[in-house]
Amino acid sequence: MTTTTTAVIDLDLPGATINRHVYGHFAEHLGRCIYGGFWVGEDSPVANVRGIRSDVVEALRAISIPNLRWPGGCFADDYHWRDGIGPRESRPRMVNSHWGDVVEDNAFGTHEFMDLCELLGADPYVSGNVGSGSVAEMSEWVEYLTRGDDSPMAALRRANGREQPWRVPFWGLGNEAWGCGGNLRAEQFASLARQYATYTRNHGGNQLYRIAAGANEADLHWTETLMRSFDDLAADPAGSAGPFQAVSLHYYTMAGSWSDKGDATGFSTDEWYVTMARARRMEDLLTRHSTVMDRYDPHRKVGLVVDEWGTWWNVEKGTNPGFLYQQNTLRDALVASVHLDAFHRHAERVVMANIAQTVNVLQAMILTDPDTGALVLTPTYHVFAMNTGHHDAAALAVHLRDVETRAVDATDLPLISASASVKGDTALVSLSNLDAETDRTLVLDLRGRDVVGHTARVLTATALDAHNTPERLDTVAPTDHAGVRPHTRGLEVDLPAHSYVTVALELR
Ligand code: AHR
Repeated sequence: MTTTTTAVIDLDLPGATINRHVYGHFAEHLGRCIYGGFWVGEDSPVANVRGIRSDVVEALRAISIPNLRWPGGCFADDYHWRDGIGPRESRPRMVNSHWGDVVEDNAFGTHEFMDLCELLGADPYVSGNVGSGSVAEMSEWVEYLTRGDDSPMAALRRANGREQPWRVPFWGLGNEAWGCGGNLRAEQFASLARQYATYTRNHGGNQLYRIAAGANEADLHWTETLMRSFDDLAADPAGSAGPFQAVSLHYYTMAGSWSDKGDATGFSTDEWYVTMARARRMEDLLTRHSTVMDRYDPHRKVGLVVDEWGTWWNVEKGTNPGFLYQQNTLRDALVASVHLDAFHRHAERVVMANIAQTVNVLQAMILTDPDTGALVLTPTYHVFAMNTGHHDAAALAVHLRDVETRAVDATDLPLISASASVKGDTALVSLSNLDAETDRTLVLDLRGRDVVGHTARVLTATALDAHNTPERLDTVAPTDHAGVRPHTRGLEVDLPAHSYVTVALELR
């Protein structure tokens, strides 16, 4: 016998704005993300604009991709931007030592990335090299991108064919500096972050939002050390943070260990629950890192940027282990919805997040066939599509009553995850039924405003590891959901086992 869960929502009590940038993405020079994923070159039989795949651009525009982080990841701290400008045929080559030990020909560089962002209508988030670069190199990259006059770097950009400076809002100071980005100690990196931030300058009207490479998972010491390195954040409530403006956090979800992460398909029901419990850990991480940040930054001037998150499975059999190519199933979709709920709940501190990675790598939005070029939208893509109504909307608290839990790995996993937001006369409620086996009914107790209409969508499938392929593109795709009925308290919603449901409300 299952209980009926109630979700109480005060529609007239909007909270912090959910920054659309928590729906951000990440594209690294890794496997087939850039090459074959975004970039096919002008001569490809795959339809492209100046070498960039048109179908990929169209699919990402359809989910209003707000920003794209590039060129890494670990690759960023090996990347020297001058190798990726000028005539393509004369660009130097390098070894991509992190990802497959393959030779990178630098065909996709700064101009190609900025062109991609313009085609996508997305803000660029450039991840600068602290690990093996120099302060001068990073400073000049910013000048090259954003300066308008006849400075040396602006002149070089013009010589390479771009007259106007670009707008670059987001700048990363290193990546995983505790690991692949230099194996630094927190104290050492905090000093470097201040130094690099100083020399990444605002040119003309371009204002950089500088993000210092942050903690791995529950490394609170790293966050605390970065927070301590700020000048007095408590002093002026109206002032902005400096010399950098945000710190990052990385967390990946897997069912096993780093050496055997579990397979993307063919997993057991137990692995499903372990995965959901691990995905829920993001909530706990955000709470703990925010608590540390609150202590130093009571006015919340410093942003928390989760610039790498998502599932990480064993690579698909027969693929290059260094390319991190994995299938994407209904389970990945629910991992995404659980994370996005957590970001909505922490909207006052989490200003950006970037799922890893957009095409053909880890928890991708899009998979492309290496032989035919066919494009597949993954179940995770559909969660992002169903959630566009949350972009820049005000978060609403969702109070859940009578949620069943399941004991998983010494924790109690709540079997429902939910979040909501309001924008003008519309509200969007997101509901995940994490129960692998049981259908549930949930009552939406809607208070504070009149609900004059609703529509609902559902994403589910028969198998837990259902996924889309070039032959069957819509095995997991959202459909209209008829299982929503009026209830004395608001609405009653059917939540099929292992499903994701969104209910859009029309308000008065
Ligand atoms: O996303 C894959 C890798 O995971 C990134 O390059 C690195 O930052 C992280 O360890």
